[in-house]
Amino acid sequence: MTDTTAPLAPEDAVLECVGLGKVYQEGKLRTPVFDQLDLAVAPGETVAIVGASGAGKSTMLHLLGGLDVPTAGEVYVAGQRMSKLSDAARGDLRNQALGFIYQFHHLLPEFTALENVMMPLLIGGMPVEQAVVPARELLERVGLGARLEHKPGELSGGERQRAAVARALVTRPACVLGDEPTGNLDEKTAAKVFEMMLELNRAQRTSLVLVTHDPRLARRLDRTLELTGGNLRPLPA
Ligand SMILES: Nc1ncnc2c1ncn2[C@@H]1O[C@H](COP(=O)(O)OP(=O)(O)OP(=O)(O)O)[C@@H](O)[C@H]1O
Ligand SMILES: [Mg+2]
Repeated sequence: MTDTTAPLAPEDAVLECVGLGKVYQEGKLRTPVFDQLDLAVAPGETVAIVGASGAGKSTMLHLLGGLDVPTAGEVYVAGQRMSKLSDAARGDLRNQALGFIYQFHHLLPEFTALENVMMPLLIGGMPVEQAVVPARELLERVGLGARLEHKPGELSGGERQRAAVARALVTRPACVLGDEPTGNLDEKTAAKVFEMMLELNRAQRTSLVLVTHDPRLARRLDRTLELTGGNLRPLPA
């Protein structure tokens, strides 16, 4: 278990935010979601984010993952300050250090499972014949060794989600961000996919930050934080 009481220096955290704030502004409509969120995720640590619908969990995850820009505060990925980087460098760092699993798989429909899982490596500049090796290995590990050539439309919901997990982990990211990654699966498949993420967390020491509505899943992670009223509060284990 990681000591989560001591504050981490930015260089010791795989992912950190300091004074993070977000206000959505669309024309005259101003929607403050939170301000002043602090979070540091240690290498190998697993964190559950819970909170009511609309509390800002997805917003927070998007900011942490560099998919959206904060209106206040800073995000550090692998010790690097995101706002200081060029768009290209930010994209590279995101591709290298982070993996994403969404509630809906977001696999590319016209590509096979194998091609989908290879994609982050190809984007990172790895040649196909090299990328195919870890992609195949991870798909085998998630039980899809016999489905490499299937397109997302030819996979079951659980299989798609497992392929999405393989895709998120193929770059061996320091941290995986998941927005209800098992939210739309039946209980049994959800448990299986969740176990797989924990197993890969142990095997690769990948940190996990998972938004979940399921308190049983949350309890399996190192710590749980509740996003409520614009604040992140630790929940007792
Ligand atoms: N692009 C946007 N423009 C304006 N307001 C937005 C935008 N995106 C989200 N919001 C608002 O910000 C708040 C937080 O949204 P967010 O999606 O982060 O909630 P959430 O905690 O993920 O909820 P859920 O559990 O339902 O997924 C909501 O009140 C939402 O209406
Ligand atoms: Mg959400």
